[in-house]
Amino acid sequence: MTGPRNYGYTDTLEAEHYATALHADIHDGLTSTPKSTAPTWFYDARGSELFEQITQLPEYPLWRAELGLLQCHATDIAARTGARSLVELGSGSSTKTKLIIEALGPAGLRYIPVDVSADALHQASTQLVQDYPGINLHALRADFTAPLVLPELPAHGSRLIAFLGSTLGNFRRSTRVPFLRGLRDIMRPEDFLLIGADLVKDKHEEEMISAYDDSQGITAEFDKNLLHVLNRELDADFDADAFDHVSVWNSAESHIEMRLRSRVEQRVKIRGLDLAVPFGPGEEWITERSAKFTTDGLRGEMAGAGLRTDQLWADSDAGFALILATAP
Ligand code: TRP
Repeated sequence: MTGPRNYGYTDTLEAEHYATALHADIHDGLTSTPKSTAPTWFYDARGSELFEQITQLPEYPLWRAELGLLQCHATDIAARTGARSLVELGSGSSTKTKLIIEALGPAGLRYIPVDVSADALHQASTQLVQDYPGINLHALRADFTAPLVLPELPAHGSRLIAFLGSTLGNFRRSTRVPFLRGLRDIMRPEDFLLIGADLVKDKHEEEMISAYDDSQGITAEFDKNLLHVLNRELDADFDADAFDHVSVWNSAESHIEMRLRSRVEQRVKIRGLDLAVPFGPGEEWITERSAKFTTDGLRGEMAGAGLRTDQLWADSDAGFALILATAP
């Protein structure tokens, strides 16, 4: 980052913190059976860029569905919440958030985008302060799966925490309610939580699968970006060509699994972990889960975390839902 910034920036993932979290997750994930790692590590500069491309794919309707819902309901969300602070978890390019920012009124609005990708944060923040000169923006680079330490928020006025893009579905089922409870614990009675969640399409398994395995191979490249991140950050010697990208529907868990399937028997050295990881031929490593919800299931999880659903909006073909909740 060169030149002056007209927004605040806090990095809680400086080299050492990032490395500690990455080491622990990759070590545990690649020594367990089946191998399974957190999706957090996809999102370096390249990963965030590839994800932006995914959102525009014909096979990936989620992004457009959520955009459509926000276009219809942002005014209502603003009226119901009257929020003067907006915290967004996994903000990426903040493209859709602009609808909420405009509805809330950007002048004097405190906006805290939270993301693991420094590049995504800087790009989005630079654009936002240019588009909305009156906005009070403070970007936070953090892993929101760990307890959040937020930059200062105005003491008065309600706060809105936005968690869009069905990122909630990328948590494992057992960790979703504890995560939501963590959010609940930092909410005051006048605050709101807005969640975007993809809904299960029972009879359209193929469509759910192809959303995570597009014909241009962008999602495959995104999945394999993890290997490049590990080669760079952990001095590993993954060969991206020795793995295939696979997208599988797990109906028992109601989630899509993205996996990397080893084409051959191989042993990968991860020098940064002092570890050699054996892969059998055809062995699959789960790199991402993306849960598909029912509206009842969502309400139940919210209730389980002590959150009260004030409003649930679903699009006309019940493909996607937005939930607005409070912490009474
Ligand atoms: N939250 C998004 C989702 O579950 C993330 C996502 C979309 C994603 N496509 C992906 C994650 C492909 C990994 C790979 O839909």
